[in-house]
Amino acid sequence: MLSYRHAFHAGNHADVLKHMIAIQLMRYFGQKETPTMYIDTHAGAGIYALDTGYAAKNAEYANGIAKLWDRKDLPAPLKEYVDLVKALNPSGKMRYYPGSPYCADRALRPQDRIRLFELHPSDAKILEDNFRKLEQGAAASGQRPAVRGKRVMVEKGDGFTGLKALLPPPSRRGLVLIDPPYEVKEDYRRVRDTLVDALGRFPTGTYAVWYPVLQRMESRQMPEKLMRLPAQDWLNVTLSIRTPTPDGFGLHSSGMFILNPPWTLEPMLREVLPYLVSALGEDEGASFTLEVGEGGTPGKVRQPMAREVAAPMRDSRPGAGKAGSPQRPVQRTNPLGKAARPGSPSAPRRTAGTGKPPRSR
Ligand SMILES: C[S@@+](CC[C@H](N)C(=O)[O-])C[C@H]1O[C@@H](n2cnc3c(N)ncnc32)[C@H](O)[C@@H]1O
Repeated sequence: MLSYRHAFHAGNHADVLKHMIAIQLMRYFGQKETPTMYIDTHAGAGIYALDTGYAAKNAEYANGIAKLWDRKDLPAPLKEYVDLVKALNPSGKMRYYPGSPYCADRALRPQDRIRLFELHPSDAKILEDNFRKLEQGAAASGQRPAVRGKRVMVEKGDGFTGLKALLPPPSRRGLVLIDPPYEVKEDYRRVRDTLVDALGRFPTGTYAVWYPVLQRMESRQMPEKLMRLPAQDWLNVTLSIRTPTPDGFGLHSSGMFILNPPWTLEPMLREVLPYLVSALGEDEGASFTLEVGEGGTPGKVRQPMAREVAAPMRDSRPGAGKAGSPQRPVQRTNPLGKAARPGSPSAPRRTAGTGKPPRSR
C-alpha cells in the first residue's frame, strides 16, 4: 500500500521524538573513529517544505517543531535537534523540515555511510534529488573530503528486505532506523521478523524502531514483542501530547523502541522528556513513559521487566532513578500534573479498543 506520504506529518510531535533521539544516537556513534553505517529502511523524501503542499494541509508541525522553534531554554539534546532544523532554514523562517535522512547527513561524519531505502516512487525520486543537490553543494564548497565509496546511497525498494544484504556492516558499527507507515498491520509483523533476522546477522547493532501508540491490538502488543527479541538490552520510550479523542482518530502518542541502546540514552531522555511533555503537551493527558530492560530469547524473557505505574513527578527529575541498576523501574510521569491512570495514554497497554480503525499517524 503506497498511499502514505510523510509530508502530511512532517515536523509533528512524533517526528520531534524520533529525530531528536536519532540525532543523539548518531552523535554517540560518532564518538569512536570507526566508521558507522546508518541504515534507514523507510527513508521518506528527506526534506519537506512546510509552507506548501501536503505539509501545509494539516500543519501537523504546529504540534511539534513549531512549539520548540523560539524556545530559549531547550535542554542540550533538543537544542541540537532544533539547531539542525534551523540550519536548514537560514532565513530564520520555519519553511523546511528535515526527515531522518537529512538528520543523518548532518549528524554523521564524512567517513560514515548512509544507506536509504524508500519504496514510494515519488518520494524515492525526491529523496534522490535532495541528496544529489546536497552532495553537489558539499563537494562544491569543499566541505567533504573525497572518501572511498559512496557516502550516501538511495535504493528505491523494500527496506525490510534490503536491510538483510547490508548486515553486518564491514566496520561492525551500525545504526538502523526502522520507521514504516503502519498503515497496514503487516508492518508490525514485518518489523519484528526483520529484527529477528537482523539480530541474527548483526547481534551488536543498534536498532531504533518508531511506532504509533494506538488502540489497535498490533500497536499495543508491539513493545512487548520487541522486548522478547534476543538483544542485549532495550529501551522503550513513549510521548503522549494529549488525551486520545473518543473516536480514536489522530495521533496523540508515539514511541521509539531501541534495541542495544547506548548507555547514554536513558539519562538523556530522563532530562529531556519532562521538558517535551510540558512544551508539547496539550492537556492533562500529556505524559511520557520510559522503560529499560534486558532482551529475552524468543518465548522466554531473560529478566523480568520491572513495571511500576504512575511514578510521582519528582522521580522524573534529571538524575533521578538508578541508571545502571540491574532492574530499573518504568517511569510514567505527567509533568502537567496528573498521575497516569489505567486506560490513559500513559498506560498504553491498558487502553481499550474503540472498535473503529484508527489512523496510523
Ligand atoms: C514514516 S515515513 C518515513 C519517514 C522518515 N523515516 C523520516 O523520519 O523522515 C515511511 C516511509 O516508508 C515508505 N515505505 C513504505 N513501505 C516501505 C517499504 N517496505 N520499504 C521502504 N519504504 C517503505 C513510505 O513511502 C514512507 O515514505
